[in-house]
Amino acid sequence: MCRADHRQGAAIRSDPAAPTDVVRFSDVRFAWPGSTRFGLEVDSFVLARGERLLLIGPSGSGKSTFLSLLAGIVAPDAGRVEVLGTDLGALRSHARDRFRSEHFGIIFQQFNLLPYASVPDNVVLPLSFSVARRARALANGSAEAEARRLLGKLGLDAGAIDGARAASLSVGQQQRVAAARALIGSPELIVADEPTSSLDRNHQLAFLDLLFADLAAAGTTLIMVSHDETLANRFSRVARLEDFARVIGPDALVRVARGGAAA
Ligand SMILES: Nc1ncnc2c1ncn2[C@@H]1O[C@H](COP(=O)(O)OP(=O)(O)O)[C@@H](O)[C@H]1O
Ligand SMILES: [Mg+2]
Repeated sequence: MCRADHRQGAAIRSDPAAPTDVVRFSDVRFAWPGSTRFGLEVDSFVLARGERLLLIGPSGSGKSTFLSLLAGIVAPDAGRVEVLGTDLGALRSHARDRFRSEHFGIIFQQFNLLPYASVPDNVVLPLSFSVARRARALANGSAEAEARRLLGKLGLDAGAIDGARAASLSVGQQQRVAAARALIGSPELIVADEPTSSLDRNHQLAFLDLLFADLAAAGTTLIMVSHDETLANRFSRVARLEDFARVIGPDALVRVARGGAAA
């Protein structure tokens, strides 16, 4: 209840118009710099509040690139990516980082934990960069207590939490730490890039059960990438990247005028 009230407050602060869309892509064009020049075109993509979207596609098809655009980690060459009504392209890089910390929980493919930091320190890290998430986490007690509560719910036992450096944990344990770090302070949107790819089937399903239980409690929106279609029945929507994105290569790029500069 407390968390829901805080969540509503944060949504109103960040977005006076309170749109039901959490994510909206409009006429987005993006290409990686450098020799590969792999790029994506997304005319339209919408993620509604509370949706649980499973995004599937083969390796190398651009799923992580798409998530990088969605999270404002890279900026489109053309078009708009709006999150909670905010045009990410209108924010300077520092403001975009802040916005991401406030509103996103991200589970990266490689987890990106701080290897020498303790498990609770890894989990509370996002609270250093987000006033709203810190306030929501502290509503339930101390930040560390909230970290331990989440870790416990995700099935990480106290023996693994106490005293261990993140680097000394198993892959499955590190994944739970990454999930707790994404969930702490109830960000509006969870972005998970193949979070179960290094787990066996039983651990995959158990992990999703735990993740979804926490998301459901907070009404959180989720986009999760996987190449495993058998997970589909747990999600409210399943999409293939190619349903809404076109891959562009070097030839097509000539037509993508960066800021109108190209012929
Ligand atoms: N940081 C990067 N810099 C340059 N090119 C990249 C980068 N990340 C991905 N790419 C390019 O984007 C293509 C798609 O990769 P990616 O989005 O990671 O696909 P997926 O997540 O579906 O496996 C890669 O083949 C590569 O050419
Ligand atoms: Mg990927």
